Amino acid sequence: MVKKKILIFGATGQIGRHLIRKLTKNNYKVICQTRNLHKAIFLKTSGSIGYIDIKETKIFDYEKVTGLVDNADIVINLIGILFESGKINTFEKIHTLFPKFLSEICKNKNKHLIHISSLGVENASDSKYAVSKSEGENKIFENLPSATILKPSIVYSVNDSFTTRFMSLLNFFPIFPLYYGGKTKFAPIHASDLTDIIFHAVENDIRGKKIETVGPKVLTFLEILNILSKCINKKKIIFAFTTFSR
Ligand SMILES: NC(=O)c1ccc[n+]([C@@H]2O[C@H](COP(=O)([O-])OP(=O)(O)OC[C@H]3O[C@@H](n4cnc5c(N)ncnc54)[C@H](OP(=O)(O)O)[C@@H]3O)[C@@H](O)[C@H]2O)c1
Repeated sequence: MVKKKILIFGATGQIGRHLIRKLTKNNYKVICQTRNLHKAIFLKTSGSIGYIDIKETKIFDYEKVTGLVDNADIVINLIGILFESGKINTFEKIHTLFPKFLSEICKNKNKHLIHISSLGVENASDSKYAVSKSEGENKIFENLPSATILKPSIVYSVNDSFTTRFMSLLNFFPIFPLYYGGKTKFAPIHASDLTDIIFHAVENDIRGKKIETVGPKVLTFLEILNILSKCINKKKIIFAFTTFSR
């Protein structure tokens, strides 16, 4: 029997794919929002028949998003980008304005919102990514103090976009630019561990909290890149130490 209906924005991503399997296995029905139904159709095989619905909508379509929220018990936002592209995919639109928009709708419809932000963003005022994520958290709590915000460090798994992107870059470039000399620290968490935490927040109805979700080991960015370069057998990467914001 279906326990609750959970609407997921950004369901096609790395965390979304893990989360869908965890939720459907435990008798939650998931409704997956996507920009492109054809690209998201693979999600159908992640759970039993009747436990996964896929809905195509643009994220700022007020009527459609309101309809989807209205039909769910819990809303989870996993939409995020690592790089800006064009006028639509900007950090401000995706990480600040969309969480603001979604939390207003959740407030109006009296629905619980779980949002995934990022660890340490409040301390990196020279990074556009971090500022947009931090502002998104503020907007959510202004609208909906009962929301739950999870803050992971790097999230990894098979085929995740972070490690595959950096392995491609490491493979391609002999010299690699690093922010802050590669000394920035991360506590990578596996996607299935993060998914367990999101599941725990759902099952135990955890509300009104910001939770830092970190893995067991703290590594610098340089150490992570060295691990990734070993994975692709690139032993002599030359690193250029520079600092600049993104
Ligand atoms: N992965 C990490 O290391 C990490 C670390 C800290 C925080 N987080 C945060 O955790 C959340 C989920 O991460 P993830 O690793 O699952 O990300 P991901 O694999 O890159 O997936 C991102 C999702 O966002 C959607 N999306 C991107 N741009 C969009 C747009 N303009 N309109 C609508 N949807 C859009 C994508 O949909 P399409 O399939 O349509 O492209 C995809 O479903 C994000 O908020 C991310 O910032 C991730």
